[in-house]
Amino acid sequence: MPVTVKTEREIALMRESGHKLCEVHNALKEIIRPGITTAEINRYGDSLIRKLGGIPNFLDYNGYPASICVSVNDEVVHGIPSEDRVLKDGDIVSLDAGLIWKGYHSDAARTWLVGDVAPEVRQLVNVTKQSFFEGIRFAKAGHHLYEISKAIADYAESFGYGVVEELCGHGIGTHLHEDPQIPNFRQKGRGILLVPGMTLAIEPMINLGTKRVDWSSDGWTVRTADRKPSAHYENTVLITDGEPELLTCIGTI
Ligand code: MF3
Ligand code: CO
Repeated sequence: MPVTVKTEREIALMRESGHKLCEVHNALKEIIRPGITTAEINRYGDSLIRKLGGIPNFLDYNGYPASICVSVNDEVVHGIPSEDRVLKDGDIVSLDAGLIWKGYHSDAARTWLVGDVAPEVRQLVNVTKQSFFEGIRFAKAGHHLYEISKAIADYAESFGYGVVEELCGHGIGTHLHEDPQIPNFRQKGRGILLVPGMTLAIEPMINLGTKRVDWSSDGWTVRTADRKPSAHYENTVLITDGEPELLTCIGTI
């Protein structure tokens, strides 16, 4: 699939889609507490997406069985919500959510602290978010894609963290996953030239320990090989002539 450049009309719809998803994340943040199950988080997220007029785009995507990916501690991404998984004090939980609005997809992830989290794990969460912002310093027309990849990796690795290589960010638009793939680690070459109107889901997945991951027997959940915690942060980003526009991020989250 080619890399798509969106028209003004498409950008307006991507923006609406992203702003709705931002609302979903803002609301989900408020329910995170020790004692809640990951299934409850999914149900609330699913109902919010629909209330806002969106369609959950993860549900049934390649058979994925929920609307929100809820990944706890050593789960990197694609955790499957469960009635049996209860968040407890000291956990971290990453929520990855997406929706379709008038045919246009948005995709964003946040990692939240549950109660009182160990300082070294809090730092992992903060650095993961900051690695996204280091990356998007290069998400501008005239730069090349892999400048983003390098900036994310350099920043995260400067803390000794493992950068996950098995999963990447991606273009997004009328499909959840469009070209290009956006690695979070250094590449050979420069990657494609960025031009205004490209919409990219940039999503560092950063591990406290080894970068190595494995897949759990449910076929979805990606976990760190050493079972140390992992964090994830993602926004759908519009390339412009100037600063990138974060379509799924209004204000501070
Ligand atoms: N946010 C994920 C991604 O970027 C999408 C989850 S795939 C699903 O690729 F199958 F879990 F929905
Ligand atoms: Co994504």
